[in-house]
Amino acid sequence: MNNNYKQIVKVAHSNIAFVKYWGKRGRQYPLNPSVSMLIDQCQTKTQCSYQISDQLQVESFQFEGKEQFDFGKRIEQYLESISEVYPLAKRLRLRFESENNFPHSAGIASSASGFAAIANILAEIEWLENNVRLSREQISTLARLGSGSACRSISKAPFNLWGKTKFDLGTDDYSLDLDEKKYSFSEKLADTILVVNQSQKDVSSSFGHSLMNTHFYRESRIEQAHENTRCLLNAIEADNFTDFGEIIENEALSLHAMMMTSMPSYTLLHANTLRVIEKLKDSREKGEIMAYFTLDAGPNIHLIYPESQKDQVKSFVSEFCLDLCEKIIWAPHFGES
Ligand code: PMV
Repeated sequence: MNNNYKQIVKVAHSNIAFVKYWGKRGRQYPLNPSVSMLIDQCQTKTQCSYQISDQLQVESFQFEGKEQFDFGKRIEQYLESISEVYPLAKRLRLRFESENNFPHSAGIASSASGFAAIANILAEIEWLENNVRLSREQISTLARLGSGSACRSISKAPFNLWGKTKFDLGTDDYSLDLDEKKYSFSEKLADTILVVNQSQKDVSSSFGHSLMNTHFYRESRIEQAHENTRCLLNAIEADNFTDFGEIIENEALSLHAMMMTSMPSYTLLHANTLRVIEKLKDSREKGEIMAYFTLDAGPNIHLIYPESQKDQVKSFVSEFCLDLCEKIIWAPHFGES
């Protein structure tokens, strides 16, 4: 390695949205507010070697040891696009090596933790080269410009809000850490990911976002997300996990309903996604488990529950999910392999 290259290593966590960001306008601004939780144990670690140069160049981007030419180009375009807010971008020659401690295509957004790690690296370069400390808000803005949901991964609080709400909280530019004293449950929440299907989804989120521009339900979806954000924050503040659970399930199904009713329409849910959801509702009605589901833009299910429910969740998973899922990811791990 040429000695003129300086090295930085940064880590960022993934996040799961409870109120979904779906649809965007302008420069990666959301059509509606969203609320998420950091997934503590799922992280991207990115090492960057850089030098100051006369022009921008991403020389290589290796992901888990393999060169990712297309992603390197995407990062170069991203850096070009942010040069107004981050002038140093035009003068960087960079090499990246990145890895996730969670499997890809497992229903955990890797673009969120990936772009958040890159935004953290850019902040460190700004500090080393210009002696300027970027604020948390500026770093979240840089992450947003890479991938919308990434702005919520620049976070220290368990819950995060991105987007201007109708009740005077939040901004479209960056995400906010929700005050932990006000917005937290008495028990920490866990997320167990039921991987129904690991194959790469064939419709990108960018395409899905773009279909919202002309969607028949566009305005009602925006209205619904504002209302669900208000109710979700009230439920967290009141430590009401049941209300919270009903809202996150409504949001997950609304996200997929938007996909199924867009023009063109598409379906990312699998038959086994619906089978697991039916089993979960049934077990909940029988009082056997206190867990709710959410979904990202894919078929895999995130089971969300207070950590004290872990034994009930383990029984539910071993009784109903093992035959319907390709893999189970426990976050936190609870000693599972
Ligand atoms: O950040 P993007 O462009 O990959 O969009 C993510 C959208 C969802 O994951 C479906 C919802 C969300 O709020 O994270």
